[in-house]
Amino acid sequence: MSTDIIGAAKPRIDGTAKLSGSAPYAADHYPANLAYAYGVFSTIAAGEITSIDVSQAKKMPGVIEIFHHDNFPNLHRTPSSFVQQNKVDETRLPFEDNHVYYGGQFVALVIADTFENARDAAYHVDVAYRAKKPVTSLSQALAQGEPKPADNKKHERGDPDTAYSGAAHKIEATYTTPIETHNPMEMHATTAHWHDGHLTFYEASQGVVFAKHTMAAIFGINPARIDARAPYIGSGFGSKLWIWPHAVACAAAARELDRPVQLVVPRQQMFTTTGHRAATQQKIRLATDDDGKLVSISHDSINTTSFVNRYVESCGSCTKSLYGCDNVRITESTVQVNHGTPTSMRAPGAAQGLFALESAIDEMAEQIGMDPLEFRRRNYTARDGSKDLPFSSVHLLEAYDKAADKFGWSKRNPKIGSMMRGPEILGWGMAACNWEAMKRDCDARVSLRADGTAFASCATQDIGTGTYTIVAQTVASLTGLPLERIEVELGNSSYPKGPLSGGSWATATALPAIHNATAKAIDALKQHAVEEDGVLAGRDAGQLEFVNGKLHGNGRSFSFADVLKARKIGEAFGEAHTNAASGDEYSFRSFGAHFVEIGWDPGISRLRVHRVVSAIDVGQIVNAKTAANQVEGAIDMGIGMALFEQTEYDHRTGMPINNNYAEYLVPTHLDQPESVDVILLDHPDTKFNELGVRGIGEIGITGMAAAVANAVYHATGKRVRDLPIRIEDLIQT
Ligand code: MOS
Repeated sequence: MSTDIIGAAKPRIDGTAKLSGSAPYAADHYPANLAYAYGVFSTIAAGEITSIDVSQAKKMPGVIEIFHHDNFPNLHRTPSSFVQQNKVDETRLPFEDNHVYYGGQFVALVIADTFENARDAAYHVDVAYRAKKPVTSLSQALAQGEPKPADNKKHERGDPDTAYSGAAHKIEATYTTPIETHNPMEMHATTAHWHDGHLTFYEASQGVVFAKHTMAAIFGINPARIDARAPYIGSGFGSKLWIWPHAVACAAAARELDRPVQLVVPRQQMFTTTGHRAATQQKIRLATDDDGKLVSISHDSINTTSFVNRYVESCGSCTKSLYGCDNVRITESTVQVNHGTPTSMRAPGAAQGLFALESAIDEMAEQIGMDPLEFRRRNYTARDGSKDLPFSSVHLLEAYDKAADKFGWSKRNPKIGSMMRGPEILGWGMAACNWEAMKRDCDARVSLRADGTAFASCATQDIGTGTYTIVAQTVASLTGLPLERIEVELGNSSYPKGPLSGGSWATATALPAIHNATAKAIDALKQHAVEEDGVLAGRDAGQLEFVNGKLHGNGRSFSFADVLKARKIGEAFGEAHTNAASGDEYSFRSFGAHFVEIGWDPGISRLRVHRVVSAIDVGQIVNAKTAANQVEGAIDMGIGMALFEQTEYDHRTGMPINNNYAEYLVPTHLDQPESVDVILLDHPDTKFNELGVRGIGEIGITGMAAAVANAVYHATGKRVRDLPIRIEDLIQT
């Protein structure tokens, strides 16, 4: 195996196609006779439709059909076995009846000859409602009833209550995080085309295999009759993991009309009908002994979910194992509000959970008068207390040391507001980050072709993270081929079954399968060489070596193209299957630490993040460039979580207010830190898989909001426990 290509900072192999505009996204496919769909979206958040008048809209130019609950075809909800296997809840289908559960729900669908005609007619569909008073926030829902516990999520060990009451030092605090909305550049979209009872659909999807099986269940047809395709995705952050109503509506309309239909979800409705990060309220209790050792941890979280479907945020997923502690309790519960169903958003549960936990750890350290980094070191554990297993590979202490060193943490004056830079008060804060390392079953196929190129395929997808590139690097590492001679195809459900691009598991899942398939392709090539008519007929295949794209044996060498041509064979291929099992001897997690400097200028009430240094322990790094990009992007998203992001609702109507790119705040160029340093520790975790890779998409956002909040506290003495941190929080005395 050539080691220099694994870990190399290679640019994305799909970069040129994306930058030149030739990469087709879901709505860039135009089958012949394509019709366009546009939704009519509920303007109330709760209640029912009393009438739908389509008479004016039907007469408008180019209108083909208008669907709503009175004339929409009957489809099937996904059965519970399917649901459990895929860890999603059974969901209501679009247009099942006249009930309205959230603002922005599809209430009708106009199909027309052009996008503009469909949209125009949609604006002329007249819907009358009987509105109920909506539940529009977590606190309002709590005032109306008890939260519903997610029993399967509960974890308890030891006796956290007794340990807490008898402890020398303790804190209790409640933290809240708001609803945030994924805003990938590419809007959700579907282009659906039926032919002879077979559905092909292009979907902005983080999981073509999952999308195919979901549609098969909903339409009640054999999955073999469905192709889901997502060759390029303009990111997703989790919002494109599952099938949302628009995809079902689009495919159903295409079948009814017997012509291809395309539906793009407007940006405003990406705030209602395609998921969001749930709001949370989290109560944390911590207690230590006199030496600063944690003796009790409890973390009780409540998150918002919808009336359509239940979604539980795993806020305690890191709390149960990040620190050594014998007495720990985690509970997770939900309340229902009149919003669309929430879903996974980058590091779901952990992003919110570590804001709470890592803020509380900072509060605890302060109470016992200990440096927060020293406090974390003192409570470090190499064992996962929730499973009573050692971590497979943990370098959290090294992450602390390297990042602290680079940041200059030893120069921190712990006194609040004591560090100045010109008119600004500087605040230095830090937090740990953490994410589970997961993997799934995977198939892959790799071939060496007679034209001198290699071809790798797998039905996973690249959501912008660099999957195409690291698959090519893996093939290159065994074949020695330059990346230009390796073709990679992903994002097609008819390829060998691959994983969702989610959970940070695509790398750890797909690369071992690609690796094994490549090794098998090389073995197949050697076999072709030694067979009758082969270039080394009669030799022992085991004695041959394959280096830099050439087969060597008996003092001679041949390109693999020549080996294949000699036998008039098109390709030497390998197919591999790897499975999700990693044994039960270890707990597999990734670790890291963020160090943040903020500047607070009290004269003009300006708050900025100046510097971030993060050290991340995610196993073997496959591509130093794309890996660092993932962490840099996640740090930026963490700054957004800390200071900007919040989907706001009108509490009279339940409708989102800032449902657009202008008013939904994210960090802009001016909000960027002066420097962001990402240190990738690069220790292969070979207990997890033979390549030692764990995955890096999500961990960078975890802990980031707490590191900012802790820095803000250090500068201002204001402990902000409710995100986002606003200027108003800091100027109030
Ligand atoms: Mo991730 S939130 O599993 O796309």
